[in-house]
Amino acid sequence: MRHPGCWKMLTVAMCMALLGCLQAQELRGHVSVILLGATGDLARKYLWQGLFQLYLDEAGKDYSFSFHGAALTSTKQGQAFVAKVLESLSCPEDVAPDRCAELKGQFQRLSAYRHLATSEDYVALSKDIEAQVQHGGLREAGRIFYFSVPPFAYADIARNINSSCRPGPGAWLRVVLEKPFGHDHLSAQQLATELGGFFREEEMYRVDHYLGKQAVAQILPFRDQNRKALDGLWSRHHVERVEIIMKETVDAEGRTSFYEEYGVIRDVLQNHLTEVLTLVAMELPHNISSSESVLQHKLRAFRALRGLQKGSAVLGQYQAYSEQVRREQQRPDSFRSLTPTFAGVLVHMDNLRWEGVPFILMSGKALDERVGYVRILFRNQAYCVLSDERWVADQSQCLPRQIVFYIGHGELGSPAVLVSRNLFRPSLPSESWKELGARPGLRLFGRPLSDFYAYRPVREQDAYSVLISRIFHGRKDSFVTTEHLLASWGFWTPLLDSLAHEVPRLYPGGAENGHLLDFEFGGAQLCFSQQQPEQLVPGPGPAPMPSGFQVLKAKYRESPLISAWPEELIAKLADDIEATAVRAVRRFGTFHLALSGGSSPVPLFQQLATRHYGFPWAHTHLWLVDERCVPLWDPESNFQHLQTHLLQHIRVPYYNIHPMPVHLHQRLCAEEDQGAQTYASEISALVANSSFDLVLLGMGADGHTASLFPQSPSGLDGEQLVVLTESPSRPFQRMSLSLPLINRARKVAVLVMGRVKREITMLVSRVGHEPKKWPISGVLPSSGQLVWYMDYEAFLG
Ligand code: BG6
Repeated sequence: MRHPGCWKMLTVAMCMALLGCLQAQELRGHVSVILLGATGDLARKYLWQGLFQLYLDEAGKDYSFSFHGAALTSTKQGQAFVAKVLESLSCPEDVAPDRCAELKGQFQRLSAYRHLATSEDYVALSKDIEAQVQHGGLREAGRIFYFSVPPFAYADIARNINSSCRPGPGAWLRVVLEKPFGHDHLSAQQLATELGGFFREEEMYRVDHYLGKQAVAQILPFRDQNRKALDGLWSRHHVERVEIIMKETVDAEGRTSFYEEYGVIRDVLQNHLTEVLTLVAMELPHNISSSESVLQHKLRAFRALRGLQKGSAVLGQYQAYSEQVRREQQRPDSFRSLTPTFAGVLVHMDNLRWEGVPFILMSGKALDERVGYVRILFRNQAYCVLSDERWVADQSQCLPRQIVFYIGHGELGSPAVLVSRNLFRPSLPSESWKELGARPGLRLFGRPLSDFYAYRPVREQDAYSVLISRIFHGRKDSFVTTEHLLASWGFWTPLLDSLAHEVPRLYPGGAENGHLLDFEFGGAQLCFSQQQPEQLVPGPGPAPMPSGFQVLKAKYRESPLISAWPEELIAKLADDIEATAVRAVRRFGTFHLALSGGSSPVPLFQQLATRHYGFPWAHTHLWLVDERCVPLWDPESNFQHLQTHLLQHIRVPYYNIHPMPVHLHQRLCAEEDQGAQTYASEISALVANSSFDLVLLGMGADGHTASLFPQSPSGLDGEQLVVLTESPSRPFQRMSLSLPLINRARKVAVLVMGRVKREITMLVSRVGHEPKKWPISGVLPSSGQLVWYMDYEAFLG
């Protein structure tokens, strides 16, 4: 379309078409839609149809339009492609055929292909749009650039748009981006920074097509319109679990070059399922039509997601996958992929509404059926006296109670919203949702369809059509903002890292999977329900732990040493702490426990939180051995660790919890704030003789303990009970109990775990009392007992 004569003719034709489309009323302006990658698969399958739908919905209203299909394809080929796609556009059932044919003709005249490659092409595009607007005597309202191109092309296109294709003052720019938006937190951040150099946040519309699925887009409106009924139900007090599921029968054949890089968690869970999760879990804003408040509330839901552990997920891979990768990517015969094509993940939210409620996210390829849904299953606390044969769906409280947003496919074959009749009759907008007709014999989630109030959309719409309309209307809440994107990657990246070398369970695919992929959960852990009969791919998994090893008792630095494999060691230490606590409470009425930070005590905290129901928490005071000079909510804070792994799972009176005052007067560990002295006074006031019942310490690879570091003089002797110290690693500033205070304890337990501690363990076994070089060597309770707890790797190497 470089030829000026051609362009003029087209402009005139387009303007005529435009004017022909104008109604008597005043137009608010002209909108140009530029579809980049107009000859690609996504464009062919969904985007052109979505643009046509936009035109059908908006033609004759407030705006005029032009549609520019753009790509690197030559003009001739591109024109032919676009002409063919335009011809194949289908008319929705609810538009009269004549009217639709007329509008389709108009849409075809308003649409044209152009080759768009160089920066001059972009300059020319912008000029053409301006000319077109001028010719038509119109005002430019805005430009939508839809990037249906691979991410490596983003930066160039973005630069060109920013430098030469922005609309003039008063008109908006919206750029629409398709996933993948990065591979992990870091790459997402880099991509976001790069795009941020070209576009403002409000200009970017990142698509997650699940947000355009009708059942998903209905979650918030449903919650809003049924506030009264849901207010009392939508919480941990009533919800037993939430299932967010996307099962597919297709596999990754033909896409393995993409899939091999991503896998199911990045491909589906990080985006689609997480978006759905936040819509279910977020607090409902007063006004759901305000994009801004929806986005704010959603972000808070992201922030309440509890961090995932390796044990929060189960992974699978369909058996043919590795072979497909070998074939499609010319890999050697020995190549075995570890990319998961199936994942089940257990997610928890740390907030009052959802604490303790399991959210199960699951997706996989080559499964037995294609279906997507969100199912909220409510607890049942009723007992029904009447015999179950006489239970009536809308009266019996003993039948299952559930709300399902049925995203599509499956037995139902269409999107739907289902509400058990024994819950309430929901209200849905009658212009867009209608009651589903009877389907005798159809059972869903174990119940006949007649057990539900069931609704389906009046007009089924493809997700892209829904989203294109929302882009046009500037509904940012149906898109992924930079903050949300990074929050989501921030949540998933640690799990992905921890699973990077995990061998997925192989499954045959389809119905043959049987129960092989079924999984179950307890606490924060998820595991397959069935043992794998045999692992077909020998993988680099962890070496099996010898079971039944004895706990070894010996001496270390003349004090008792207990050594075992990590699990047994932690169990033994937890038992010993509980026994000490019970004894202390019996004798003195309270138990004062001072805990260290770092990673070694984390499994201990988890053990205490989940296995020690007899622990006298109500009479226990929890103190910190040391703290990093960061706010208490900082992920680096020792208190934050304690909070995440212990405090939030147990019932300790809040006045028994004593975080170190490192953050006073909006600053961290300033001498003048006297935080150390304040903590010391608190200890003196509450702990008899400032003698803790138990102090749990660790030992650093450099011989430090608490936050007392080699070559740092403070806290090793003298009168001070609590001191500010300097660490050789970040964060440099610390607060710590002093050695004299530690040595006043009735009992000191030192926990040392992992092979990295082997060297220092050997060294410290030989040295004398040299706290300046190895502060740990200064731990010697004056009248209390010292016990070492070391796992075999730390002790024996
Ligand atoms: C895409 C994933 O985002 O979603 C695909 O990349 C997946 O792997 C697809 O098949 C599923 O979308 P839908 O709309 O078919 O459920």
